[in-house]
Amino acid sequence: MDMPEENPFQDTLRFERRAPECTVVIFGANGDLTKRKLVPALYRLAYERRLSSGFAVLGISRTGLSDDAFREKMRDSVQRYLEDAPFDDGVWSAFAQGLFYLSGDVSDGELYRRLAARLEAIDESRHTGGNALFYLSTQPSQYASAAAGLGAAGLSRGSGWRRLVVEKPFGHDLASARELSDQLHQHFGESEVYRIDHYLGKETVQNILAFRFGNGIFEPLWNRRYVNHVQITAAESIGVEGRGAYYQEAGSLRDMIQNHLLQVMATVAMEPSATFRPTSVRDERSKLLRSIRILKPEEVLENAVAGQYGPARIGGQDVPGFRQEAGVDPEAQTDTFAAVTFFVDNWRWAGVPFYLRSGKRLPKRVTEIAIQFNEAPLAIFNGGGSEIVPNLLILRIQPEEGISLKFVSKRPGAGMKLRPVSMDFNYGSSFGERSPSAYETLLLDAIVGDATLYTRQDMVEASWAAVEPILHVWRETRFDFPNYAGGSWGPAAADAMLARRGHVWRKP
Ligand code: BG6
Repeated sequence: MDMPEENPFQDTLRFERRAPECTVVIFGANGDLTKRKLVPALYRLAYERRLSSGFAVLGISRTGLSDDAFREKMRDSVQRYLEDAPFDDGVWSAFAQGLFYLSGDVSDGELYRRLAARLEAIDESRHTGGNALFYLSTQPSQYASAAAGLGAAGLSRGSGWRRLVVEKPFGHDLASARELSDQLHQHFGESEVYRIDHYLGKETVQNILAFRFGNGIFEPLWNRRYVNHVQITAAESIGVEGRGAYYQEAGSLRDMIQNHLLQVMATVAMEPSATFRPTSVRDERSKLLRSIRILKPEEVLENAVAGQYGPARIGGQDVPGFRQEAGVDPEAQTDTFAAVTFFVDNWRWAGVPFYLRSGKRLPKRVTEIAIQFNEAPLAIFNGGGSEIVPNLLILRIQPEEGISLKFVSKRPGAGMKLRPVSMDFNYGSSFGERSPSAYETLLLDAIVGDATLYTRQDMVEASWAAVEPILHVWRETRFDFPNYAGGSWGPAAADAMLARRGHVWRKP
């Protein structure tokens, strides 16, 4: 693996976040991600005046479209999917002049010759400095041929910089992740490959680093002496929403835990980084992921619980079970819920359980990290109707982004009666500003050349290594699915997993 680029002069760009000139080439320009996330995020960057005048987007997909038709389509998408931000006709017109389209098949070598000519023409008219960011938003099975096509046409090198952004999944297990990486590395160096994990781009996930390392009082408590256990929950109330065929093969462990939640866990648990440079931060994240204890096959079923939702009546409506969703095998053994107990084998965290869970069709959409501290060493207030609970720090990732610290307090009145109270910080009311979407942050980072929030291959491999024993054992297990009703907090076995250590899941 080559060393990531580390140019100290980039710091100005990194902290001020202004994009240098370039063309963003989107493979899969007709897909959902392009219209829902990528183009709205780029438009929003234009609105914020963060893009250079030498900026262009070239969309590629099989459908035949003119530049103008592509612009019209994108205009509709931006108006439809731009969350909590205004649409401005003037900004759009200027932005749309830099939108171009090319039709072609990713696996066809001829596409890349036309792409080369198109990039040159765009460079001449828009002065993009020969810089290009290739964004793979296609089926994962096409990643390798796109990289190979770019390489063979000489497009992975150019007069400016070249970078490749790849969407998850990065393989479906450790071996396929390595294979994909080898295929990409034949044409792009590791420092040029930007693997997106959109959770790392969320403001509240970035704020974990600010909270831990911008303050002096929390870090001394952030270890096995004071922390009893950590719960990381990513719950969704929706089902698989038309993605049944993909999801059936993936399942919750692959779809959410292997990537998003392990990255969040790494951010919560990593050692302080010596600097805020990409290599330093990523090294710490990677070290943490590599310290996760790998479960032995016989430990898997006690420490990893699979669930699948059944039919239910929610809010007065009948909703199908997973096996009744379109494109799903009626006998599917897919996990739509997964809960795992991980341990980190290092001095800071030895013996502290990290409980991770994620699921579809749970009671609500909420992502949070709950850090439960040890109880006070001596219980002197236990008599007389006090309700004493251990201190709890909750980092609310979404929605209602914020941080709460729970502690006990004396109730007003005679006697010493205690009950839990909460000290709250809310993003909305404290800053009163709109937060950029994860894709705005991550796209700008990639254009600027800041890989801090991107996943490196060693992290991808470490997180596959952590879930692989679970995948193996689950593949050999015949689950009695469905085992939770839609709209509930998952299977009873997930509660039993925590109960074995005397713990209880929070109901966020
Ligand atoms: C994606 C998963 O990576 O993340 C989806 O493939 C999931 O299944 C989504 O719904 C959740 O993202 P967010 O940002 O809505 O929490």
